[in-house]
Amino acid sequence: MAGLSDTFTLTNGVKIPVIGFGTWQTPDGDVAYNSVLSALKAGYRHIDTAAYYGNEESVGKAIKDSGIPRKELFVTTKLWNDDHGYEKTKMAFGKSLDRLGLDYVDLYLIHWPNPKEFRSNWQKTNAETWKAMEEFYREGQAKAIGVSNFRAKHIDALLETAEIAPMVNQLFLNPSDMETGIVDFNDDHDILTEAYSPLGTGNLLKLQPVQEIAKKYNKSAAQILIRWSFQHGFVPLPKSTHEEYIKQNGDIFDFEIDKSDMQTLDGLQGKAGLAIDPDTTDF
Ligand code: A2P
Repeated sequence: MAGLSDTFTLTNGVKIPVIGFGTWQTPDGDVAYNSVLSALKAGYRHIDTAAYYGNEESVGKAIKDSGIPRKELFVTTKLWNDDHGYEKTKMAFGKSLDRLGLDYVDLYLIHWPNPKEFRSNWQKTNAETWKAMEEFYREGQAKAIGVSNFRAKHIDALLETAEIAPMVNQLFLNPSDMETGIVDFNDDHDILTEAYSPLGTGNLLKLQPVQEIAKKYNKSAAQILIRWSFQHGFVPLPKSTHEEYIKQNGDIFDFEIDKSDMQTLDGLQGKAGLAIDPDTTDF
């Protein structure tokens, strides 16, 4: 595997580039626009945004201005917590497409499984939401559909009524929280695992073992963490607003972390934060 435009294949045959460009916490306007444009120039072909990030408009503008043919790009957005339920999902998806200036997305995800507002009936609400998402999929407005921050019980509940199984589960996933149980569940169900916050939102970069391994391979700490994710078979979604970092983070294909260093990184559980429990969020 040689580069940023290499792909994995989802269960429905759709190809997904092996690294995505993350935009969580990237402010709308010039920052989001320039970051996405830099990422596309650097060779990324997979951009990950969400209605909640508030930057879909700038992301869409950068995509358009890049001049890259739409079919060469993979664009993901997500349904926010306020918009669960059949009718609301339809409205929210339409608004996301409008903001992005696109007539389809490559992947549409339910952002969280159990929003506070729907906590008493999340199973039913997710089933209704999913029904709308299956329609977007059948109509070709979403080339793939999936979930984010879902644990096994949330996916099991969804599968009770789903006609189409989720193709992706996007998780907070890095050496500080390997989410082993849910990653194994994803694998058993042919669900591709995407890794957001692969750098632990930056908190993993300064850890001594990461720094030492970076030195050994003559790479940056960020490159080590992204490569770690890639070698585990996840699709990392590193975020940056700096052109240098953006380029660097996509340049992880010319080295391999050996088994013992992978194990050292695997041993950093809890060292830079854990995934939030989706059943007790206050949003
Ligand atoms: P910035 O956005 O200011 O460029 P994660 O992808 O885990 O959410 O981590 C994102 C954080 O890591 C951001 O604060 C980002 O900074 C920082 N970051 C991203 N790439 C690098 C890099 N190559 N070197 C140092 N910091 C980086």
